[in-house]
Amino acid sequence: MKTLIIITFVCTLFIQGCTDPEYVVQFDETPYGFSHGELPAPELPTDYPLTQQRVTLGRRLFHDGQLSSTGTQSCSSCHSQAAGFSDNRKYSIGVRGLPGTRQGMPLINLAWHRRGFFWDGRSPTLREQALHPIRDTLEMDESLDNVVKKLQASKVYREQFVRAFGNDSITPERIGIALEQFMLTLVSTQSKFDKVVRGYDLFSESEERGRQLFMREFDPTGRTKGAECFHCHAEPFFTNDRFMNNGLDDDASFRDLGRELVTGSPTDRAKFKVPTLRNITRTPPYMHDGRFTSLEEVVRFYNTGVKKSSTVDPLMQFNLKPGLNLSVHDEQDLVEFLKTLTDEVFLTNPLYRMP
Ligand code: HEC
Ligand code: HEC
Repeated sequence: MKTLIIITFVCTLFIQGCTDPEYVVQFDETPYGFSHGELPAPELPTDYPLTQQRVTLGRRLFHDGQLSSTGTQSCSSCHSQAAGFSDNRKYSIGVRGLPGTRQGMPLINLAWHRRGFFWDGRSPTLREQALHPIRDTLEMDESLDNVVKKLQASKVYREQFVRAFGNDSITPERIGIALEQFMLTLVSTQSKFDKVVRGYDLFSESEERGRQLFMREFDPTGRTKGAECFHCHAEPFFTNDRFMNNGLDDDASFRDLGRELVTGSPTDRAKFKVPTLRNITRTPPYMHDGRFTSLEEVVRFYNTGVKKSSTVDPLMQFNLKPGLNLSVHDEQDLVEFLKTLTDEVFLTNPLYRMP
């Protein structure tokens, strides 16, 4: 303990009184090498361009338990890289040991999302979103004031804020911006699907049949088979970034009003953000309430279980009766195709781990 105090004391003297340039921490504007593979370039923030230092700071914050009241829960406790930065529990458990009310969402290719964050889209930007889980009593349950105090007490953080923002003022706004910058770098473009599109790999017969089912419209005459997935889970992101009702429940059984909670409009009742299907094998359980544990269950639901309601998407109404008419074999092929969206490079990228 004593040694620790002495070291801190000497360092403080050094920073304040020292002219040795070795000890001067500098603002570092080195741009972050944002790579997006074959995806179209996203519109990144222009007020705070992505820099190496801001992304690194955000990455450290993302993995730091100090953002929670107990010091034990970080963003990555519920957004784990191996799970596509989602949570494999039906409902995430916060620091008080209590479950939340929705399933954890994957954080993949968020740089292209324009219509809001969370299942109901209540946060307009990532930097605004990032401060919610900290204060949420069912999540990290900490005040922003306390987080700022804890970070200010750390020499490493004070230095990192200087490098990222030019001075060591630590504010909730800057914490949000740094977390946003890290989340913008979570880009997945190296799944088998991407490789096949680029011509480096081939689908198996079953995957190719699944792809065709996925990409084709439902044909009520039954002459061709199509599963209608692509309208909402549109490539290359496998989401159309919109809020929709895919027919999980009927009007009598809606338990979560979804988008209506944000807009107040009954036409938005039980609509939820269309989730990306990238890395879908790693992000169970599925849907906003985690009701399905396997992809087989999800596909079976779309095939025969879609329910009618006041807000169910017209694309789904096509399928109400007699359903998509997929055979067991078709269902398996669709699942095989979904498996090609797994991107091991993304799931194990060392740049996303605790720095
Ligand atoms: C206790 C678990 C938990 C913790 C801790 C947590 N999250 Fe989440 N996260 C969730 C859940 C659950 C949702 C969906 C909640 C909803 O829609 O109401 C979510 C949603 C999100 C989304 C929305 C994604 C999208 O596509 O719209 C982002 C971004 C996000 N979290 C980032 C973070 C960041 C940054 C932190 C740390 C500051 C964090 N989360 C901490 C559980 C957690
Ligand atoms: C009308 C738009 C629409 C169509 C068509 C559609 N989906 Fe979805 N999908 C959604 C929405 C919205 C959700 C989230 C619903 C919720 O949680 O309330 C979702 C969720 C999913 C999930 C769970 C994702 C997760 O992270 O929890 C999978 C898997 C999925 N869809 C696969 C498919 C497949 C396969 C097809 C084609 C058979 C398909 N979807 C057709 C809108 C659609």
